[in-house]
Amino acid sequence: MRKKIAAGNWKMNTTVEEGLKLASEVIHMAQDELITDVSVIMAVPFTHLVAVKKLIGSSSNVLLAAQNCHQAASGAFTGEISAEMLKAIGVNCVILGHSERREYYKESFTLLEEKLQAVLQNEMTPIFCCGEKLDVRQSNGQFDLVKEQLAASLFSLSPEDFSKLIIAYEPVWAIGTGVNASDDQAQEMHHFIRKVISQKYGSGIANEVSVLYGGSVKASNAKDLFSCADVDGGLIGGASLDSRGFVDIAKSF
Ligand code: PGA
Repeated sequence: MRKKIAAGNWKMNTTVEEGLKLASEVIHMAQDELITDVSVIMAVPFTHLVAVKKLIGSSSNVLLAAQNCHQAASGAFTGEISAEMLKAIGVNCVILGHSERREYYKESFTLLEEKLQAVLQNEMTPIFCCGEKLDVRQSNGQFDLVKEQLAASLFSLSPEDFSKLIIAYEPVWAIGTGVNASDDQAQEMHHFIRKVISQKYGSGIANEVSVLYGGSVKASNAKDLFSCADVDGGLIGGASLDSRGFVDIAKSF
């Protein structure tokens, strides 16, 4: 059975004090209100990780994620954070390949491949993002591009490692715009992603990998998106900064 996941990507938002308030509300609501087979993930800023980990404690349906990491194990990389450092404080997942990092920090397919290896070697779960910009969709190039993003960064992984991933399809034109992909657009791409994975790794693995949709998910559209056959949940930006709205999204399965 594929995991149902609501992952909040806080991006560069909240001070530690604000973040702890938000995280604590989410944790309590998740404990009280969520059915057991839904996992909530909070991808918080680096400065918050240790404190949020303490808050999560032994809560079984809430996981902690970082939003990035460096590919090297250690060394002279001023300002960077390694996967080993994240592992050591109990981080469970790391977002990689978010479109903002591809765009603003020029993260390449090869760099992401190296970061994936670092995260997997440290026994954390990569949340690998893919998705096209508006001009690519307008010229109907989204399928070729997403296939290339998957193949170039992920297909050197062994089947065993590949099966540990979470994938997030995030059309760039839907991120932070308030315009989400339609249910049909999301389902069509998620089905395609599963087909591409199946061609490389077989249908067993393709059917087990959780594929999340991201891009303007909110409580009002989550139910329809999550009811698509190949959509296993969401990667939620703006709407994850409101505890009530975020947990309502997590209750939309
Ligand atoms: P959004 O962001 O929900 O604010 O559109 C999604 C994301 O960037 O992961």
